Amino acid sequence: MTKSFRTLDDVNVKGKRVLLRVDLNVPMEGGRVTDATRLERVAPTITEISDKGGKVILLAHFGRPKGRDPKESLKPVADALSKVIKRPVALKDGDILCLENTRFHKEEEKNDAGFVTELAKLGDIWVNDAFSAAHRAHASTEGLGHKLPAYAGRTMQAELDALGKALEAPTKPVIAIIGGAKVSTKIDLLENLVNKVDALVIGGGMANTFLHAQGVAVGKSLAEKDLAPTALRIMEKANAANCAIILPVDAVVANQFAANAPSHAYGLDAIPADGMILDVGPQSIARIHAAIDDAATLVWNGPLGAFELTPFDRGTVVSAKHAAERTKARKLISVAGGGDTVAALNQAGVGGDFSYVSTAGGAFLEWMEGKPLPGVEVLKKG
Ligand code: 3PG
Ligand code: MG
Repeated sequence: MTKSFRTLDDVNVKGKRVLLRVDLNVPMEGGRVTDATRLERVAPTITEISDKGGKVILLAHFGRPKGRDPKESLKPVADALSKVIKRPVALKDGDILCLENTRFHKEEEKNDAGFVTELAKLGDIWVNDAFSAAHRAHASTEGLGHKLPAYAGRTMQAELDALGKALEAPTKPVIAIIGGAKVSTKIDLLENLVNKVDALVIGGGMANTFLHAQGVAVGKSLAEKDLAPTALRIMEKANAANCAIILPVDAVVANQFAANAPSHAYGLDAIPADGMILDVGPQSIARIHAAIDDAATLVWNGPLGAFELTPFDRGTVVSAKHAAERTKARKLISVAGGGDTVAALNQAGVGGDFSYVSTAGGAFLEWMEGKPLPGVEVLKKG
């Protein structure tokens, strides 16, 4: 695929001050980073620039502070990053410098022109390696791209390549698997996808809303019943676009939302009135596997059931394993991302077997909605 944006291949960074926007917004507990995936993802860009003789100045936000707040300092994250890249990362001076949380300045989120100008003085070029923050038009994620020569970092490049292969110029047929609790957060996404994919699997709590809209009695299951008309509209659009909607045909039902709650699989005509659907049933899993087998490209967002509770992670886990097998057999290009999805794939032990797993949450969803991402748009060759 031809690159529509500049990368580190297009610039000599030797002797240059490189303002490198990264996403260091990692989960922390008690001052410790609990998942270093995002740090590992940006490591290659940092070390490449440094090895080529560039001075790396990292820009990143952390949390959503209102003004300066020591609880949301990047210091502990910079220390964790230093361990990942096995080089010092200093907040004051050094070869690899990390500026304090960009959101300590209210001008950051406003993309304030004066603030952008001040930031731009610190560097000779701007490299954006933060796809997962690219849905924000902030000073460090977007504004700088108008002030300095702009390039995609290696992670951004990999992400855009993978996403391009998944939806923009995919090998057909394309299947999307969309799960998660609520339809309300994914209406735009579903409406965009029905025009892009050949088959759309809907699972998770979201599927209950669709089943209810079709007249299935879903008992006490989570369902947004007021969104029944929306669900029907999405199904009509899918029909008009020749996109097959694959809904569950059976369900694993329990009386309570709890790990190891006694459960049974039921057909859709027999969901007990006091029961809660917590996972897709075995027949649904077989259908999903068959649909994956028919596809050349898969885009996955969201779990198919209450994957945080055993055994209701089963539909998600076995389907993810199936997709991983097809990928390893080179029959499938598989791309996943968004919120709980990475955790679900890691729980299935297959995070490393997908073609690409994005660490982006909101940015991945907006990309699936077909929206232009400001932090990506500014990188495009003009
Ligand atoms: C994320 O964690 O999804 C990104 O870093 C963006 O963070 P935000 O939602 O606070 O802008
Ligand atoms: Mg977020």
